[in-house]
Amino acid sequence: MATGIEAMDIDHQVLIGLMAVIETRHHAGQSGDDILDAIIALANATMDHFAAEEAHMAEVEHPALTRHALIHRDLMERFAGHAERIGHAGGQADEAFFNFLEFWVLTHINGLDKDYAEL
Ligand SMILES: [Fe+2]
Ligand SMILES: [Fe+2]
Repeated sequence: MATGIEAMDIDHQVLIGLMAVIETRHHAGQSGDDILDAIIALANATMDHFAAEEAHMAEVEHPALTRHALIHRDLMERFAGHAERIGHAGGQADEAFFNFLEFWVLTHINGLDKDYAEL
């Protein structure tokens, strides 16, 4: 998980913490604004984090920046799709959303984000 860049590692812990809030609330039977507010908090933190990560990669002229930024856009689009569906369902989170979060943590935070640590 550790990228070796402290600010990014802290961001990742914050994102994982915000994901856990959604999951905990969902498992406690919550829906509506309790879930939607937590999803918005995760979305905002994610946008800030992706921007910071891309700025860092630009600063060190990382060769994977373009590809990494495209993957961020794709993740945000998929996230937005899930958020929209859950919004229409009155804040009822679902398995597809939690699978997406798991995919994101495993393949990106614990995967590709190591890209920029290797310079
Ligand atoms: Fe990241
Ligand atoms: Fe990333």
